[in-house]
Amino acid sequence: MKKRVLSGMRPTGKLHLGHWAGALSNWVKLQDEYECFFMAADWHALMSEYKNPGSINDMIVDNVADWLSWGIDPKKSVIFVQSDVKEHVELFTFLSFIVPLGWLFRCPTFKEQITQLKEKDINTYAFLGYPVLQAADILLYSADYVPVGEDQLPHLELTREIVRRFHFLYGKNVFIEPQPLLTSVPKLLGLDGRKMSKSYDNFITLDEQEEPLKAKVLSMFTDPSRIKKSDVGHPQSCNVFSYYKVFFPGRSEQVYAWCVNAEKGCRECKSILSEALIEFTAQKRMYKKKIMKDKSYVRSVLKKGAGRACEFSAKMLKQVKRAVLGV
Ligand code: TRP
Ligand code: SF4
Repeated sequence: MKKRVLSGMRPTGKLHLGHWAGALSNWVKLQDEYECFFMAADWHALMSEYKNPGSINDMIVDNVADWLSWGIDPKKSVIFVQSDVKEHVELFTFLSFIVPLGWLFRCPTFKEQITQLKEKDINTYAFLGYPVLQAADILLYSADYVPVGEDQLPHLELTREIVRRFHFLYGKNVFIEPQPLLTSVPKLLGLDGRKMSKSYDNFITLDEQEEPLKAKVLSMFTDPSRIKKSDVGHPQSCNVFSYYKVFFPGRSEQVYAWCVNAEKGCRECKSILSEALIEFTAQKRMYKKKIMKDKSYVRSVLKKGAGRACEFSAKMLKQVKRAVLGV
């Protein structure tokens, strides 16, 4: 029996190269070893985007089309939308009864996001419960593993604490304590060297057209101490070099050499990177274009996924009700 994995992304915007490097490429690999559930977390998206919820539905389709184009295979994995499976909010409610407020106020992601996303007004009742909904997502499917970045580790620890408290209070072991699947996530910075962010518009989307892709790569910041081509460069402190390392590790030695020996200028270095990225993304971009013309394929994948997800989650919810209410 394969172990089970669940992961999710919030459909708050277009997916970019950072999502590929940090999560999606890993998801694609996990599909062969694990029984995978991949979810568009639209309830979680609403927790921060509730003032402008208009694009969430479009982003679900757009993001899932990217997943499919970049190798998430509906024959191997269950692909679904969180709100299509009503059990997520139902279990969220059951868990809300037993989670002490202190656990949530103490959560580092809560403290951090509140200060970072001031402009979003996420000082809300729902946002405090963000990790509780995430726990419900994971526990509904008895996921053994959750692939997470370091920043999400506290949410997983909270999930495990919720499991123990539930079992202690109701005397029945219905859940599995999920384990993190820590992957060495290469940190990919934005084109300007800052954190990749929608508000900075400093990334290359997974479906970026050729011309804007070229322009964006050429706009990247390079080693600031290298002014003329004859100056030797410092690839370790150049963002362009980190893109080579993440996407074309096989070429990074060569790039390193031409940089430290001042054999190629930064413009040429970036132009070669942009050609490589165009080649790397071309097929996926074409496939996405095709499935976005008529969204019925994406919709049918999601419908089938919701059906599969419901089979699991409905069973789990029955067990939860039996444990809590004896029904
Ligand atoms: N919180 C995750 C993120 O921002 C998204 C998410 C929602 C998730 N539910 C999940 C991830 C369950 C893993 C498991 O990236
Ligand atoms: Fe960066 Fe390439 Fe310029 Fe070196 S040559 S500083 S790696 S852009």
